[in-house]
Amino acid sequence: MTESIYANNNHPSPRVAPKLHHATFMTMDVALMSNWYEQVCGLRPVYFSTHAAWLTNDEANHRIALIRIPGTQVPVNKPRTAGHHHTAFEYATFDQWLDNYVRLRDQGIVPVFNLDHGMTMSMYYQDPDGNGVEIQVDNFGDWDASSEWMWASREFSEDQLGPHFMPDKLVEARAAGLTHAEIHRRAYAGEYAPAVDPGPPMFADVWPARVKADPSLAEGLPMVDGPLVD
Ligand SMILES: [Fe+2]
Repeated sequence: MTESIYANNNHPSPRVAPKLHHATFMTMDVALMSNWYEQVCGLRPVYFSTHAAWLTNDEANHRIALIRIPGTQVPVNKPRTAGHHHTAFEYATFDQWLDNYVRLRDQGIVPVFNLDHGMTMSMYYQDPDGNGVEIQVDNFGDWDASSEWMWASREFSEDQLGPHFMPDKLVEARAAGLTHAEIHRRAYAGEYAPAVDPGPPMFADVWPARVKADPSLAEGLPMVDGPLVD
């Protein structure tokens, strides 16, 4: 086993750390992606054009940005390519989180997999380009408490992913009057797990179907001089 570079360095972090502000994705279709992020997470454009958009759903000027750079190519085997796995959004309450699942399910948008991680319950969607989007609720309702659980609990040291769950089972349990705490307890015990274990948290490769629907994508975006041209 190789020695850990992280464990053996002297952790030279800045005295004042910058805050996470936004993530930017290269895309071949800004409108398709903007529509999806608005429908799923309520992100609206602060600025929108066919070559780029800046989206937010809070007080920040943007949280997700989309850029259509000339020459961009279709990803190859994206689910098994090193790099970004998902972006996460958090609801303040269990009922808001579950209501959003029902709203999207009724519009035909369902998560690819769902995990009770212990500190959060999380549903993982896929945007039209195949990027993961986690929508979560904190099981402790308090980041200090859930952080402490992550570093101090035996459960997290033994299993950092937790069991899969079927969201419709949670909807049924809530309708039957069970509380967030009780539903989390049961989900974390695996009571709402699918009959067949979905295995590792892998997304699907959406690109073969995208290219089949629009074969011109296989050629990539045209190379044009100058940045971000339509
Ligand atoms: Fe996450």
